[in-house]
This record gives sequence, structure tokens and C-alpha cells, in this order.
Amino acid sequence: MKKNVLITWWLGYIGSHAVVEFEKNWYKTVIVDNLSNSSIEALIWIEKILGYKPDFFEVDIRDKNKLEEIFKKYNFDWVIHFAWLKAVWESCLKPLDYHDNNILWSIRLFELMDKYNVKNIIFSSSATVYKEKFVDKNFNWYTENDLTWDCTNPYWTTKFILEQILRDLSIHLKFRVMNLRYFNPIWAHTSWYIWEDPNWIPNNLLPYIMKVAIWELPYLNIFWNDYSTIDWTWVRDYIDVNDLIEWHIKAFQYIEKNNIDLWFFNIYNLWTWKWVSVLEILKTTEKVIWKEIPYKFVWRRDWDLAEVYCNREKAYKELWFKTKISLEESLRNSWKFYNNNK
Ligand SMILES: NC(=O)c1ccc[n+]([C@@H]2O[C@H](COP(=O)([O-])OP(=O)(O)OC[C@H]3O[C@@H](n4cnc5c(N)ncnc54)[C@H](O)[C@@H]3O)[C@@H](O)[C@H]2O)c1
Repeated sequence: MKKNVLITWWLGYIGSHAVVEFEKNWYKTVIVDNLSNSSIEALIWIEKILGYKPDFFEVDIRDKNKLEEIFKKYNFDWVIHFAWLKAVWESCLKPLDYHDNNILWSIRLFELMDKYNVKNIIFSSSATVYKEKFVDKNFNWYTENDLTWDCTNPYWTTKFILEQILRDLSIHLKFRVMNLRYFNPIWAHTSWYIWEDPNWIPNNLLPYIMKVAIWELPYLNIFWNDYSTIDWTWVRDYIDVNDLIEWHIKAFQYIEKNNIDLWFFNIYNLWTWKWVSVLEILKTTEKVIWKEIPYKFVWRRDWDLAEVYCNREKAYKELWFKTKISLEESLRNSWKFYNNNK
């Protein structure tokens, strides 16, 4: 007997991993996706891993009537909200589309949640919401209490605005919100059946590097080298997607175990605490896969911050989980996967 019923936007990269792990942990999931950045194939792979197909509806979050039919059909306990347009460069070209898709239509979803008394939500936010400040990796980290604003591109702004909306809903409509801020998830499901498979040229670094390594793309574009970092390329934190999803389950169980029935808005930074520059990740990949990866320095993008360091103490202490998979292991597994499957 499954414990909870969740509605999610889950055929994308992180979502398809989440659906498998939540189902394995005895939660029933209902998947809704418009397939704008995912493929129905993911459902076939999910079925292969689980031995059955979770309920799936090809519906756009913008279609409130169809969404309402789904709310009427199931007695949902939770929403896990992954549906998002997420290409930073595209958000600069089409800011209105991003605000429309990511904010306006999330509000339609929250209206339905309120109407059908589904007050629990996990939201995939991003550490990019923090207001830029001088950070020193020896002592000066972003904590969950730091200020968030001054976003440098519309994608980040939509995350920032949605966090504010959810905070309001927690206070005034008694929503219980787990707001998870993460940076760069990498690699694929341990079954090797599902992986990050964008419909277009990848926006994220690792699939791009892998596509160059298998000669699907000619070289890696590195967006300039005049940042004040160890080797002048920007620095990020990369979290293995399997660790990331385990953190989602812990976040979920935190509310269940602690029997929290009051409203709340809880924020967690989900980071590995190991930061690397673009050149470092490139060189580490070359070492792990024994192959040279061609790259070119190209134009500087206005929105890239040099480096951001987050403190993850709160997530460690309260959610009782430490990331287990090293960067080298993630890279090695990614390579085995791309080399064998593409
Ligand atoms: N991947 C990352 O690097 C990263 C980092 C930080 C935060 N996040 C957040 O995590 C969440 C999931 O990211 P992902 O990498 O899995 O992205 P993804 O693009 O693979 O998944 C998002 C899914 O939402 C669907 N979608 C978009 N608009 C929709 C609409 N109007 N109606 C129905 N479905 C719609 C897409 O088809 C896609 O399957 C997003 O909110 C993203 O902003 C991702």
C-alpha cells in the first residue's frame, strides 16, 4: 500500500530520477508534464526500472481545466514542483515567456492546491537567488538566512519571486513548504536507464563536456576567463543527482517524522561543499576518461557570477544526510554511460 499521493512535473532530468526513488520508497506518484523539455521515452525507462508505469498525463501547467480534472481524480497529499523553463541564456532573450511560464502558471497551480486543500509542497529553487556579496571560501558562506535579490537574469528572478510567493502562502494560507536551493546536479540514475537528455544543445556543463568527448559537439565553449578565481574561470559546486534526490526524500520524511502540522517555510542549501572551476572540471574529466576534450574561450556572459559558496550545515543537521558520491565517481560513471549508450 503506497503512503502518499504526489503530483509532480516529473519527466525532466531531475523529475524522472525523483519519480523512481519516491516510488521505490513507497510513495505513489502522478506525473504531469507537457514534454516541452523532456521525452515520453523517459516513461518507458521508468517502467523498466520499476516494473510498472506510474500514472502520467501530458498536460501543460497552463491548462487549468485539465489540471483541475487531475486534482479531482486523485486525493493528493503533496506537490513537487519541478516544471520550469530553465535555460538562463533563453530567459534573457524571452523574459516575458519565463515570467509567464514559471510564475503566472505556478500561481494557477497554487490556486488549485488551495481549493483542493493540498498544502504540502517541495519546490526546486536554486542557490543563485542569493544577493551577490563578497564571499571567502574559508569563512564567509551563504547561509539560508542571507539576503536574496538583485538577480542577474530572468530565470533567477523567477526563482526569487516564486520563493516570496510561497513564503506568503505559508504564512497566510498555511502551506507547508520545503524550499530546496541547489546548484548543479550532474550524472544519471544508478540504473543507467535515465539521464539528463535535453531536447536541445545542453545548457549544463557536464552533458556538454560528454557530448564533446563522444564527438557529438566539436568543442566546449568556456564563457571567458577573466573572473577573479583560481584559474580565471568561474567556480561552481556539482552535486550527483542521486545524492540530490536522496535529499528530497529526506526533506519529505522530515515533515512526516516530525509530525509537523503547522504551516512553515523551510529553506535548505543542498550543496556538496566541493567547488571546482570550469577548467578544473574539464581537466578532471580528461584525467578520468583518458581523453583530451577540446575547448575554446568564447564571449563573457553578463549574468555569470565568479563564485558562490553555500553553507550546507542546516541540511546536514536537520535532514540527516551527507552527500556520498565524489566528483570523480560521478564523472567516471557519466563517461561509462555516454560512451556505451550514445
Ligand atoms: N538542472 C539544474 O542544473 C538545476 C539547478 C537548480 C535548480 N533546478 C530546478 O530544478 C527543476 C527541474 O530541473 P530539471 O533540470 O529537471 O529541468 P527539466 O527541463 O529537465 O525539467 C523540467 C520539466 O518541466 C516541464 N515543463 C516546463 N514547462 C512546463 C509547463 N508549462 N507545463 C508542464 N510541464 C512543463 C518540461 O517539459 C520538463 O520535463 C527546475 O525547476 C529547475 O529550475 C535545476
